[in-house]
Amino acid sequence: MCGIIGCNGVSAAVPVLTLGLERMEYRGYDSSGIAVIADGKTEITKKKGRVSELINALRFKPQATAAIGIGHTRWATHGEPSDENAHPHQSGKFTLVHNGIIENHTELKEQYLKLTKMKSDTDTEVAVHLLNRFYSDGCLKALAHTARLLEGSFALAVICEEEPEKLFCVRQSSPLVVGLGEGTYAASDTAAISEKIHTLYRMDDGEIAVLEKDKIEFYDFELNKIRKAPEKFEKSSYASDKGNFEHFMLKEIYEQPEAIRRTVDAYLNENGFNLGLKPQKPERIFIVACGSAYHAGLVGRRIFESLAKIPVSVETASEFRYSEPLVSEKTPVIIISQSGETADSLAALREAKKRGAKTLSIINVKESTIATESDFVLLTRAGPEIAVATTKAYGAQLSALYLLGIYFAESFGTADKKELEKMKKALTDLHKSVSAALNCEEQIKEIAHRLRHIDRAYFIGRGAGFAAASEGSLKLKEISYIHCEAYAAGEMKHGTISLIEKDTTVIAMNTQTALAHKLQSNIDEVRSRGARVIAVTSADSKISADETITVPEVHPLFAVSTQIVPVQLLSYHIARLRGCDIDKPRNLAKSVTVE
Ligand code: F6R
Repeated sequence: MCGIIGCNGVSAAVPVLTLGLERMEYRGYDSSGIAVIADGKTEITKKKGRVSELINALRFKPQATAAIGIGHTRWATHGEPSDENAHPHQSGKFTLVHNGIIENHTELKEQYLKLTKMKSDTDTEVAVHLLNRFYSDGCLKALAHTARLLEGSFALAVICEEEPEKLFCVRQSSPLVVGLGEGTYAASDTAAISEKIHTLYRMDDGEIAVLEKDKIEFYDFELNKIRKAPEKFEKSSYASDKGNFEHFMLKEIYEQPEAIRRTVDAYLNENGFNLGLKPQKPERIFIVACGSAYHAGLVGRRIFESLAKIPVSVETASEFRYSEPLVSEKTPVIIISQSGETADSLAALREAKKRGAKTLSIINVKESTIATESDFVLLTRAGPEIAVATTKAYGAQLSALYLLGIYFAESFGTADKKELEKMKKALTDLHKSVSAALNCEEQIKEIAHRLRHIDRAYFIGRGAGFAAASEGSLKLKEISYIHCEAYAAGEMKHGTISLIEKDTTVIAMNTQTALAHKLQSNIDEVRSRGARVIAVTSADSKISADETITVPEVHPLFAVSTQIVPVQLLSYHIARLRGCDIDKPRNLAKSVTVE
């Protein structure tokens, strides 16, 4: 959450910063700002609202020919979204941007800044006043002094009129990379600077970087010099184009088959698996993730337990990290994350490692912190995902879990070999069925039109169908703001069925062919109390409801992958008809880098 960027030694800093902010807007979009030093003076522009409003505001200022600057796009944690709370923040000659949370900001203010009048309600402002207060013998010393005092998570980019040829960066528990190209650059995400750099340095926690126009030096917080290995950075073109689609979300739903094909093909071909992993049958596997990635984990549990006969615990990372988890060297931990930067998932990974567990992460962003710190990484090949609500990355995560499940079963000899061969073939072809599932869009548009005014919905399912229901419910609520709940279908009658009345919308996910008749009973129970039920089902399974959306038949273990498609489309079309900001839903950010 929040994206920071900095550049030095460039011909025009403003466009570099604003382009980078546009690309990192997924990290937060309630306000944004930049600061540049031009002719020895700092110029700050910041605005509540989207980066486009910042760009508008900059139009009315003479475009500074500054070579150095910093920028920020915000997801508010302390202080409401406003011009005053937007970053950069300034004190004396120092200006800074911050991603993270300074947890001891109240104590620091009390101890060092009693007489300082704060201009904002942010935790961040304390840091810039501390820099100003500790400045006596160079910016670097002031920065190290300040960094030693701060607690919590902070990635900082700092400029100072006293040393206008240097950009200072600090990393502690919030992502930050720096790189060299025509000038030097820093960003929360490489996407912001991807075609500017040829050399990348990954900063570690507890490090300071000093970026001059053509070199970067690293220090720890005691100001000992650190030597860091440079990495060659492959320039990438940024997928900022919506093509013919109205929103990134719809484009990404349509890219889902390709994301699945690329993920499967990367690790499975006619010669078998090439995962580069030699698993030993563990006592138990833990799967830990947040949000949709957690829902993918729920599907993973079904796969691992049924194929590889390994007991699996699936936990949300925010609970796992503080639960004194019973993990050890005998219980590997799988972390699932699109961004690879989610703060709770990263903390869970570190907790698991501390307890001696081997860690495997399923990650979409290769350069991310979780990918870097995991013992083994299975990269999903969904490509950059821009819409805040995940679709294609979730689809790719499911495929990665299918790959692992089949591979574990093969390695441990826990499933019939012929059956496993059939599954491999089915997995290789899965993208075709997911692509065919997209054909339901016209039917979905009609349903969306009917449902556009509902104020609540229930998603039900059994087994993996409950996992699919959980994801469907999250998708609809996060982008359309309709209150939704997901329920294990058999649980409804233990309380929640009392909420069903005439015309209540219930969406039933029938992924478990073998349990279709059980789900049918639950559908009948809610229909007889007035609910209007829309069933999502595979072609081979008969279900009777008020309306049925039928997707192609696939191997029963993979049914979530096809059945999630109509639900993603339904969420999209309902949100569109309600006029919601689909790609950037309110209060959310794509990369949740705070607790
Ligand atoms: C929902 C969504 C979120 C993420 C969650 C984890 O559409 O995108 O629930 O799945 O914030 O993010 P990652 O996968 O980046 O760890």
